[in-house]
This record gives sequence, structure tokens and C-alpha cells, in this order.
Amino acid sequence: MRIGPLQLPDRPLLLAPMEDVSDPPFRILCKRYGADLLYTEFIASGGLVYGAESSLQKLEFYEEERPLAIQIFGGEEDQVRQAARIADAAGPDLLDINFGCPVKKVVCHDGGAGILRNLPKMERLAAAVVEEATRPVTVKTRLGWDEGSIQILEVAKMLEGVGVQALAVHARTRNQMYTGDARWNWLRTIKDEGGLQIPLIGNGDATTPERVKAMFDETGVDAVMIGRGAIGNPWIFRDARAFLETGEVPPPPPWEERISVVAEHLALKCAWLGERKGVPEMRRMYGGYFKGQPGASRLRTLLMSTTEEAVVREILLNWREDEPETQVPVGIDLAATPRPAGVKPAGVRPVGLPAAVKLPPSRLPRPARPTV
Ligand SMILES: Cc1cc2nc3c(=O)[nH]c(=O)nc-3n(C[C@H](O)[C@H](O)[C@H](O)COP(=O)(O)O)c2cc1C
Repeated sequence: MRIGPLQLPDRPLLLAPMEDVSDPPFRILCKRYGADLLYTEFIASGGLVYGAESSLQKLEFYEEERPLAIQIFGGEEDQVRQAARIADAAGPDLLDINFGCPVKKVVCHDGGAGILRNLPKMERLAAAVVEEATRPVTVKTRLGWDEGSIQILEVAKMLEGVGVQALAVHARTRNQMYTGDARWNWLRTIKDEGGLQIPLIGNGDATTPERVKAMFDETGVDAVMIGRGAIGNPWIFRDARAFLETGEVPPPPPWEERISVVAEHLALKCAWLGERKGVPEMRRMYGGYFKGQPGASRLRTLLMSTTEEAVVREILLNWREDEPETQVPVGIDLAATPRPAGVKPAGVRPVGLPAAVKLPPSRLPRPARPTV
């Protein structure tokens, strides 16, 4: 599959943009497990234009992540145009526009899915980004605002007409938010009746390897974008690829691999954000990684009991999933006490940054601040 000059493998698997999830540490892990294209979380145009530190940080990425799309959103034409210029200067492979976010505070300013109520303005916004970008522009959207106003066929054709080079469709309306089933029949309709030359990326409820294959088979989409199925589960890309190619899903990762990935995620978070922010941010990830594992809630409580990266790592590497009762009591100061009785599970790889990663991106040259 091609997006402009960008060549992707057949039936590519994409990591969805997810706020507070799809950051460089998580993206690197998904890439390691086979994601073919990564997206940043959405970045507010206004934040970029006014130079907000938190927005500018979201532009950063490791070279090893390529190919990567930076996603922006906004409903104010001049701002979106300027933001496109800024995001473009950060050097991603693709520039993506979010026309799908359903959240009230975004849609009320014509951002995200809000623009599905004003298609002439959507056309102007997309055209402005295409004009500013020196690389392919893609769009991610939903079927329509609500049941009575699904115009995805017209929208797809219009976006292709202004030069958008791939379209990702989350097969729900804005009013569905995340409820009900994603309506894959619409993806089939876009493929069959849309008359599109550009690739169609299917999204929504492709949460397991079997569902990923079913989306390809039932809808004919050119690529599948995986969101929630990857949270705490970056190996879904490996598993889905294996299932596509062999018809068999590999067994779930052994405990040692799971722990090793969590420890590496923690190390990457701390390299990216520093220990003070990285350790608390990592807490949101444990639920996904340890869901359904024996002793999961006790382990999570332990991991939350400290703000020190070294101590969290120590707890992780010493946790014996088969003997939760022998674990470190909550509140113990591991740094000040000898290693608890548990021994390191056999086969845990040393924790460290992936060899290819040289520098935390926060130390990479920053994109130029806009002058406003
Ligand atoms: C925590 C979370 C954050 C999200 N943030 C974004 C975002 O920043 N940009 C975007 O286009 N979609 C965002 N989405 C929507 C997902 O990209 C995707 O469209 C949706 O989750 C449906 O796909 P799935 O069923 O594979 O999860 C987010 C979804 C979740 C669960």
C-alpha cells in the first residue's frame, strides 16, 4: 500500500492516535512488535501556534519510529494553517488532520468531528493543510455527525479532491462516541461505492488478531488501524501479523516478556519525561498490562506506592506471579531494605533503552517556535 511516496507493506497495521497513550515510549514498543505506521496523539492547533510547551513536546519523535504521522486538530482556519506549517517543520512522514474527535470541548469549536456539520469549512481546512504541507496529508474521521447525517461517501470524495492522500474512517458517528458496534458495513460501502483512488484505512473494534483479519476480509480496507486493542498489549501487532499470514494466533507473551516490556516502557517514559513525571504517567498503563493476570491488583497497588523509577523496576522484576502472597508488603521502602525474598524471574532481559535509541527526544533540537 502506498500513501503518496510512502510505501507500506501489504495489509499494513497502524497504531491509532490516542491521547495520553500514543507517546514516543509506547509508539517505540508498538513499532518493535510490528506496527507499520505510527500516529502521534492529536495536537491542538492553538497550542502549537501559541507555543504551548505541552503541545510542542507532542511533536517530538525518535527517528526509529518512522514512518510516523503527526496529527493536528482545530477549527480555526488561520490557526490550522499555521499549525500545519509548524507540524510539517517537525519532519514527520505524514501530516494527519483529526476530523473525528467526539469530545464536546473540541467539537464546539468545529474541531474534530464538529466539522462534520460544516463540510464546506472541512474542505477549506483540509485544503489549507495540503497547501502548507511539504509531505502527504491524511485525514481521520467518522461516518458522520449522527445517524441522520451520514455523508461519508461525499466527504471521502471531497477530501480526495483537495489532495488528501489517505483516509482513515472510525466506523461510528460522532453521536455514537465509543458505544455500540463499529459499523464495518460502511467501510465496505466506501470501498465499493466511494470510487476512491486513495487508500482507505479501517478503524473501530479491530481489537484482536481475529478481528483485524475480519476487518480486512469483510470490508476490503487497505489498512487496519488499531487503538484500544494495543493498550497494554503492544504485541497485538505481532499477533495480528502472524494470524494474517498463518491463520494462527501466537500464545500470549510469557510473564517474563510481559514484565520486561512494562519495565522497558517505564524506562522509556522516564527517559522521555524525566522520573518525576514519567513514574506517575506510567501508572495509567499498568491496568492494561496486568489485566486478568494473577495478583494484578496487588501488584498495581505496589507499583503505585512509590515515585522512584528504580524502586518500581525492582518491584516489577521481583514479582512472582505464582506466589503473590510472598510479595513485598505495601509501603515497604525497597531502596532502604535488602532485596525481598522473591528472585528475579528467569529469562527477564536486562532493562534498558532499545539499542537503537540514542537520545531522549526531549534533548533533540526543538522545532522553531512560531512568531505570533
Ligand atoms: C484513550 C483514547 C484516546 C484517543 N485519542 C485520539 C486522538 O488523539 N486522535 C484520534 O484521532 N483519535 C483518538 N482516539 C480514537 C482512536 O484513535 C480510535 O479511533 C478509536 O479508539 C476506535 O478504534 P479502536 O476500536 O481500535 O480503539 C482515542 C481513543 C482512545 C481510547
